[in-house]
Amino acid sequence: LYREPLRPQFHFSPKRGWTNDPNGLVFFNGEYHLFFQHNPYGWGWGNMHWGHAVSKDLVHWVELGDALYPDAMGPVFSGSAVVDWKNTSGFGKDGKPPLVLIYTAAGNPTVQCLAYSRDGKSFTKYAGNPVLKQITPGNRDPKVFWHEPTKRWVMTLYVEVDKKHTIHFLTSPDLKDWTVRSKIDGFFECPDFFELPIDGDATRKKWVLTAASSEYMIGGFDGEKFTPETPKLPGHRGRGFYAAQTFSDIPAADGRRIQIGWLQAPSPGMAFNQAMSVPLELSLRTTPDGPRLAWAPVKELNGLRGKSHAGYKITLTNSETTLTDRAELVDLEAVFKPGKGKVTFLVRDIPVVYDGAKEELIVNKHRAPAPLRGGHMELRILVDRTAIEVFASDGLTYVPMPLIPEAARRSIRVDVTGSADFRTLSSWEVRPIWKR
Ligand code: FRU
Repeated sequence: LYREPLRPQFHFSPKRGWTNDPNGLVFFNGEYHLFFQHNPYGWGWGNMHWGHAVSKDLVHWVELGDALYPDAMGPVFSGSAVVDWKNTSGFGKDGKPPLVLIYTAAGNPTVQCLAYSRDGKSFTKYAGNPVLKQITPGNRDPKVFWHEPTKRWVMTLYVEVDKKHTIHFLTSPDLKDWTVRSKIDGFFECPDFFELPIDGDATRKKWVLTAASSEYMIGGFDGEKFTPETPKLPGHRGRGFYAAQTFSDIPAADGRRIQIGWLQAPSPGMAFNQAMSVPLELSLRTTPDGPRLAWAPVKELNGLRGKSHAGYKITLTNSETTLTDRAELVDLEAVFKPGKGKVTFLVRDIPVVYDGAKEELIVNKHRAPAPLRGGHMELRILVDRTAIEVFASDGLTYVPMPLIPEAARRSIRVDVTGSADFRTLSSWEVRPIWKR
């Protein structure tokens, strides 16, 4: 276990079986909890359970047994988790707040249910389930948070109405009794909804509505209704990143909004299948078009950096430089001023090209806009055994991509046409996250 040839070494994947969406991301009793759509009995989708893993640092995960099993109400589809600090649900005991999971029981009808835990390890389904009856068939994926100004719980829920994809906004005083307050069209499955400061300025906050595709809108929220101030904007710019969700209850002193997405990266021939993205810190950044969402690998990942291959200030002109020919798991950082030519990073022979003339990033032939910021390009490239993730333009361009580097290809080369001024050009071997 964890030594399999296609086991991602710094991305979470289940010990055995299939996973898709991350579920119930929450910080509780000093640990990050990652629940996940899990088929414990097969390599493909089916028999949905909630798998469960915990981490003290968002990076090293320990998989526990499945937390939620299917029952007479159906398989257990996606949902979220909250810490009920005020014990509004009554599931708490001895002054300790319970952890509450809100999930979809995907039978017929399809309904929303609760389960709770006092220790974060064992879970009890609420005897009064379901807490929300079917609105229309297939309604699913409740994402719940506490809205302090109105002192109520808010749920966003995917609901199909007259063949249209909508997100419904509901409220509840106690997680058990829900009232529909408003709805908005245009988002499919796995909604998430949260507030973020613009450029880190706590006096300028905006709400972000997003869903499975990672497209999003920015706007205002009065506790019942979301008022968009942008059209629907593109989310990630790669492939195979879906149904992301952000953590609940990260302590205010930390204050980060951290997201994990389902990385649709197959591991053929292995006893497990699919993985999670690295944890991503979200921010809103000012651009010439207004505030936009940006993604960055959480800083905890830097702790996995081992042997460094290079790290210098250098100007490269029409030349190719080899950083190493012994790379396996890669974390590469480059900050450079490109000319009008191309800067090509050949990471284990996967081409990541920055086209300075077009201000475009091309990851393994897949194009994404990547504007210079202050005349510079900052690139971060992570390569694991079944995927690559590239971050550019201060994180405004996030390009995840499932892909299996050939085992024998071990070099990292940088090829420059024209000229490029590097402020940083460093790459590290990443240390595996698994105890084995
Ligand atoms: C998204 C999704 C969710 C659903 C879950 C079932 O990938 O279809 O809408 O709850 O997967 O596994």
